[in-house]
Amino acid sequence: MDLASHDQVSALIRHRRSIKPVDMDAGRGVDRAVLTQVLEDATWAPNHGMTEPWKFVVHQGAARQRLADTMQHVYRETTPAGEFREDKMKKMGENPLLAPVVIACVMERRGGAKIPEIEELEAVACALQNLQLSATAAGLGCYWSSPPLLGTREFAQWLQLGAEDRCVGLIYLGWPREGLKWPRSVRQPVEAKTKWYDD
Ligand SMILES: Cc1cc2nc3c(=O)[nH]c(=O)nc-3n(C[C@H](O)[C@H](O)[C@H](O)COP(=O)(O)O)c2cc1C
Repeated sequence: MDLASHDQVSALIRHRRSIKPVDMDAGRGVDRAVLTQVLEDATWAPNHGMTEPWKFVVHQGAARQRLADTMQHVYRETTPAGEFREDKMKKMGENPLLAPVVIACVMERRGGAKIPEIEELEAVACALQNLQLSATAAGLGCYWSSPPLLGTREFAQWLQLGAEDRCVGLIYLGWPREGLKWPRSVRQPVEAKTKWYDD
C-alpha cells in the first residue's frame, strides 16, 4: 500500500496552522470532490461503539450570508448588554463571507446511555483534526472557531439539532490568499509534557 512516510505525516501535522478567513481567497471556491474527500477523511476518526457521532452542515455561496445573519441575530439576542462587543458582531457578519466554505460541525448524540457524551465529543474532535489535516494536505487553509453562541438554544434550533446534540465548532475552509506568509507557531518540548517510566 502506498502510505505516506512517517516523516511526511509528521511534516503535514506540523505544517497545519489556523488560517483565518481574512487570509483566504474569498473569490475561489472549493471543488465538491475535494470537499467530499476532506469530509470522508474526517469520518475515518476513531469513535467508541462505532456511533460515528458527527454531522457536517456545509455553507457555501449564499448560504454563508444566512449563517452570518443568524450568528449576528443570535449574538445580539443572547449576549448580556455588558458583554456585547461591536467588533465581535462585525466579525460575525464578515467572516463567513471571507471564506468560501464554512462547516458547522455537530456532535450528534448516538451512543445513548452506553457511550458517555464526553466520548462522543472526543470522537468529533478527532474527526475535526482529520478534517483539518486532510484540508492542509489539499493545500487549503482551515480554522476552527467556537464562539459561545454556538451553544445557544437559538443557534441549535436554527441548525435543527436534536435536544442532546451540540455544534462544537465552525470550520472555515478556503485557499490561502495570494502572498500569505504561512503563520509560524511553537509548541513546548515534549519532555515538558511527558513522564517516562522505563523500569
Ligand atoms: C476546540 C477548539 C476551539 C477553537 N476555537 C477558536 C476560536 O473560537 N477562536 C480562535 O481564534 N481560535 C480557535 N481555535 C484555534 C486555536 O486558536 C489555534 O488552534 C491555536 O491558536 C494554535 O494555533 P494553530 O492551530 O495554528 O496551531 C480553536 C481550536 C480548538 C481545538
